[in-house]
Amino acid sequence: MEEKHGRDSFDKMYDEKEKMFGHPYREFQDYFNEYPKGSALDLGSGQGRDSIFLALLGYQVTAVDNSKIGIVQMLREAQAQKVEIDGLVAYVLDYETEKQFDNIIFDMLLHGFGKPKQLEILNKYSGLLARKGIMCIVFPDDLTTNHFMSMLKSVSGDWKLLDEIIVKDVPKMEGDDVDFTFTMIVVQST
Ligand SMILES: C[S@@+](CC[C@H](N)C(=O)[O-])C[C@H]1O[C@@H](n2cnc3c(N)ncnc32)[C@H](O)[C@@H]1O
Repeated sequence: MEEKHGRDSFDKMYDEKEKMFGHPYREFQDYFNEYPKGSALDLGSGQGRDSIFLALLGYQVTAVDNSKIGIVQMLREAQAQKVEIDGLVAYVLDYETEKQFDNIIFDMLLHGFGKPKQLEILNKYSGLLARKGIMCIVFPDDLTTNHFMSMLKSVSGDWKLLDEIIVKDVPKMEGDDVDFTFTMIVVQST
């Protein structure tokens, strides 16, 4: 990511390895399988594992990533799977749209930014959330649910934690010799 990894690091990694992050977590799949379908904005969509999964379920998906290679790989896969995704190459703080979304997904994006940028991003995207829409945030162990809930106190709206799910089905990446767990939270502004 911009702050931790430098501007072009994911392009190079994605070019070297297709489907780098593997399948969507089982916990993510179960959640969105059950959730009412609608529009979804996948921010930092990478090579599109979540976007493609959601599109196959019937969500209308917009995917944004600053890695052109990731977006191209995702659109190729979407075409192969015969689903449509609106894929855009943009920095998360530069993306502009008039649309509102029922679901906004941040899967392993926010932890790459420092707290002020995380807050800026959450502020910006809370404004694109449709009424009763949800934000789904997946983050690694060095962050906590409280970190995000306390940050959301300064984002307009009254934020409610709908779900907190420990993600155990984290696909192993090459070279990993430990089992990682992540946390997935689902929040809604009431
Ligand atoms: C750890 S990957 C996760 C990808 C995807 N969400 C997934 O779980 O498979 C983080 C992604 O965020 C993207 N990213 C990092 N900083 C970004 C920024 N400022 N704007 C848009 N995308 C960014 C990277 O290119 C990368 O694809």
